Amino acid sequence: MKVAVMGYGTVGSGVVEVLEKHAPSIPKKIAGETLEVKRILDLRDFPGDPHQELFTKDFNDILNDDEIRIVAETMGGVNPAFDFTAKLLKAGKSVVSSNKELVAQKGLELLNLAKENGVNYLFEASVGGGIPIIRPLNQCLAANNIEGLAGILNGTTNFILTMMIEKGMPFDEALRLAQDKGYAEKDPTADIEGHDACRKVCILASLAFGKHVYPSQVDTQGISNITLEDVSYVASADGVIKLLGQIKHISDDRIAAFVSPAVVYHGSQLASVNDVFNAILVRGDAVGDVCFYGPGAGKMPTASAVVADVIDCAKHIKRRKYFGWGAGDEDYVVDYKANIKMPFYVRAKASETEAKAKFTTVKFLSRKGQPSDEIAFITDAMTENELTEKLEGMDVINIIKVTDY
Ligand code: HSE
Repeated sequence: MKVAVMGYGTVGSGVVEVLEKHAPSIPKKIAGETLEVKRILDLRDFPGDPHQELFTKDFNDILNDDEIRIVAETMGGVNPAFDFTAKLLKAGKSVVSSNKELVAQKGLELLNLAKENGVNYLFEASVGGGIPIIRPLNQCLAANNIEGLAGILNGTTNFILTMMIEKGMPFDEALRLAQDKGYAEKDPTADIEGHDACRKVCILASLAFGKHVYPSQVDTQGISNITLEDVSYVASADGVIKLLGQIKHISDDRIAAFVSPAVVYHGSQLASVNDVFNAILVRGDAVGDVCFYGPGAGKMPTASAVVADVIDCAKHIKRRKYFGWGAGDEDYVVDYKANIKMPFYVRAKASETEAKAKFTTVKFLSRKGQPSDEIAFITDAMTENELTEKLEGMDVINIIKVTDY
């Protein structure tokens, strides 16, 4: 069976490499069928690359080639990936994707197009890199009512935070290292400011609860205001700071979903997830807590998930897999600030007496070199709106959510 790859960047070149390297073993998995890359679409030139005869700059070379039945889209971004994917699905080709931005924005439309045209649109690589999570959530945990999910969903920021926590490395140096290793997005702002994690939260929430969630519905904060001082205070409370995506089921037609730095106490399965690794903790009513852990970014781990989808499409070339979700609505994702109670870490220019006057119980934290006019403490559980009200008049430096996962 002939396959095409659109986008020959880090992930796309990994997909070609895995398909070629595993060419001898793949037929054993799909009843003797072979998978051969016939075309690679990219506008750039790759002098010296051994695939010169496969490269094309013209999308129509893939669209109009009837031999090509499965296309791996590893281009990233919404345009032109959406237009290309829609045309391919309408032409009766299955498409697999690592493009979380596209799935988060346009997943519902593309899944519906796949359904209408009797083909598959799969995107295991869009969340958690090489970690199997989309299929387990869709199939293996199908018997559960999902109560919530929490995930370390961005390898770049987890790598940066790990370097800050374990090596005291400055933020910029850690970011450069993550970029050199091929973890970061083209524009690393998407990593640092939480947009990449937000897209993954949208995909997980859509799948877990059956209604499309758009990035604009998910309150998103990144890690750019986390300092080594915060890291140090949180360490004194036996915790670490992680960028978490959190999703909570409220009722059949309401969920909460948000991305932010969060204090995770040691003892949580998420606390020891370091470097570029990701983990997704799923809380089901029958199974309890299950945690999916593995490499969350990088060429070969992500290619591993894309090629698994290509193989799955080849296995299901004559029938569609049941996979998808329905439309959501504007009120579906509630304002977490008014609805979700949790403890908070607060750092302020204030005295312990001031804090005690505002909160019935707080746990004070300490750090080496703590100035005499600075305090840090953990509050009781309350909504963020209640916290904002209580903190009125206090010279607050930073606030970080404390997770219960
Ligand atoms: N930039 C992303 C990350 C790549 O660092 O996790 C994988 O989605």
